[in-house]
Amino acid sequence: MKAIQATQFGSPSVLKVVDLPDPTPGPGQISIDVSHAAVGLIDILFRQGQFKDVPGMAQPPFVPGLEVAGTVRALGDGVTGFNVGEKVVSMSAGTGTGGYAAVYIAPVGGVVSIEGSNVDPALAVAMIPNAAMAHIALTMVARLAEGEGVLVHGALGGFASAFPGIAKQLGASRVVGTVRPGKLEAAANTKLPYDRIIDSAELPGALAGEKFDVIIDPVGGSLRDQSFALMKPGSRLIVAGNASGDWTHAVKTNDLWLGSMTVAGFNAGAFLPSHPEAIRPGLEAALKAADSGLCDTLFDELPFTKAVTAHERMESRDLNGRIVLTPQ
Ligand SMILES: NC(=O)c1ccc[n+]([C@@H]2O[C@H](COP(=O)([O-])OP(=O)(O)OC[C@H]3O[C@@H](n4cnc5c(N)ncnc54)[C@H](OP(=O)(O)O)[C@@H]3O)[C@@H](O)[C@H]2O)c1
Repeated sequence: MKAIQATQFGSPSVLKVVDLPDPTPGPGQISIDVSHAAVGLIDILFRQGQFKDVPGMAQPPFVPGLEVAGTVRALGDGVTGFNVGEKVVSMSAGTGTGGYAAVYIAPVGGVVSIEGSNVDPALAVAMIPNAAMAHIALTMVARLAEGEGVLVHGALGGFASAFPGIAKQLGASRVVGTVRPGKLEAAANTKLPYDRIIDSAELPGALAGEKFDVIIDPVGGSLRDQSFALMKPGSRLIVAGNASGDWTHAVKTNDLWLGSMTVAGFNAGAFLPSHPEAIRPGLEAALKAADSGLCDTLFDELPFTKAVTAHERMESRDLNGRIVLTPQ
């Protein structure tokens, strides 16, 4: 099969098109003929070698990518509930690799059928895995209640853009996003169900005193510092990523006491293996949200042969929404 391999840690140019043997599914697994593979910031971090010393993380040569859409190719022993040829989407298999390939092996627990839905496979891979994680983060970590207000930083980013639809589906009264100044035009045209998107450079003034019950922060750095002044007593800040690259950020715990605020981390790679029961409801909620038009993010499709370009664009921030790779 055709695949994209990170041949070593380094710049996007380490990504090469290779031919690999077709994999076959083991017990409890499904093999998928991939039509679309999503590109995420985590793929870039893996390729750069940011996690090279973390036990169990991908080491070269490896195939990046952890979210695919396609059709069921074969079922491993013990797998029921899916048919060969059925259209499906798979979220991370746990290793965080293998997606940029013509055939992907997925544990059945992370696969959802999109057969019979109105969701385009490219949009499905761009949004359903992230929306499933957003559902898990909002229900099990943030414990979002009906009528609460939500703020999402980096509002048009791949992961962040899954939150407004799921928050609305769960009954949030209002969802506000923040973006950097360069993304204000894209924010004005987004179909994502934000009530408002503001320039993060104008915090907190642009909010005129508005505070939130839940803040979703996949960005970190100075934006995370600014979040504490935007939290109500009893509110929850969910630390869900570090797109700013500030690895030294620290929280002053006495401020949490005085403001009666909670800071919680959410990392699907750590959370899901110990909470596998959350995955199926997350995927079902995500499919429902995507099918109802709550997840209409922008995405660009590029062929596998342009994987280097895809990673370069992620690094230079030359994108709105997501990039999706196709094997053809
Ligand atoms: N918790 C989880 O389970 C989970 C799941 C998926 C992803 N993540 C994490 O979430 C983060 C985002 O991943 P992604 O795949 O969504 O990436 P992405 O699509 O590239 O989005 C990154 C977002 O962060 C913004 N951003 C980047 N640097 C910034 C800065 N210095 N200041 C303000 N905003 C900045 C970007 O804004 P611009 O477009 O203006 O650059 C964009 O909105 C990563 O840390 C990733 O590891 C976590």
